[in-house]
Amino acid sequence: MEVEIPYVRTILINAIVEQVHTFDSGASHLRILQETGQMDAWSWLPSMAQDTERVLKAEVCAMPLETSEGETHVVTRIQPRPELDVFNLIPDQFGKRDDIVFRCRDVVDACESEPLRRFLSNVFSMPAVYRNFWQCQASKAHHHAYTGGLAVHSIEMAENVRDTPRLTGMERDVGIAHALTHDVGKLWCYAEGGAHLYALGHELVGLAQLHGALERLGCDWPDGAVAMRSLLSGQWKRLGGKPLMAVGSLVRAYDQASAENDLRLHGRHPHRPWSPSKPNGDNVLTFRR
Ligand SMILES: [Fe+2]
Repeated sequence: MEVEIPYVRTILINAIVEQVHTFDSGASHLRILQETGQMDAWSWLPSMAQDTERVLKAEVCAMPLETSEGETHVVTRIQPRPELDVFNLIPDQFGKRDDIVFRCRDVVDACESEPLRRFLSNVFSMPAVYRNFWQCQASKAHHHAYTGGLAVHSIEMAENVRDTPRLTGMERDVGIAHALTHDVGKLWCYAEGGAHLYALGHELVGLAQLHGALERLGCDWPDGAVAMRSLLSGQWKRLGGKPLMAVGSLVRAYDQASAENDLRLHGRHPHRPWSPSKPNGDNVLTFRR
């Protein structure tokens, strides 16, 4: 008697693999994340050592499976691919605004320097950045002081750098990388138990946390790593050469403009737009003598 073997559909995707839980039976509950979203999966593969420094980027082979509790997947192969660009593996749903992850991907695409793109991918592959960059506030009680404010503020600044006329390609690339990472230390300062880091200042914390990514940038492009360290530490204001000061000053100006704009949007005094006084009215512009 011939028995028809059911057709088994498999999918092969590049994704981030997160281990939710491993049971004593050897089964692992996984979360598979891609640009388009995330899916639930199970695996009986030998447990992989968890790298706390970066998320697991991999080529994943999986089979869809219908269960009484809904659709899941059985993962049959996980091939680590650390070289994958993380920005294509961040779910759009991570953003508090619908378009913010897309805008981040778009502005990173404008960075033409391969070493800096790898640097940004390495930074956003750090578990704290991969997950929390999209949720964190840009300040506790000043500008962008709401969930997702850090992403809005940083991406807005990077877009402004990208759209600035008459920059050289290198100035634009370094400026984009700096804008996206200039407040990244706040992820650790504002995290639970991060009060002691807050006292150090977010610039120093960011510089320390990005040490590994900066080291790898240094192997690819030593001058680029020096420039990024100088910008992230704020030392460019005292010790940077003129070209680096130009980038630092530009990003700082966009930082202030972004903060002012947010405060105006939320109508907080004294950041409301100035309007001229009415003749003989109460709204008279006064000057302190
Ligand atoms: Fe900022």
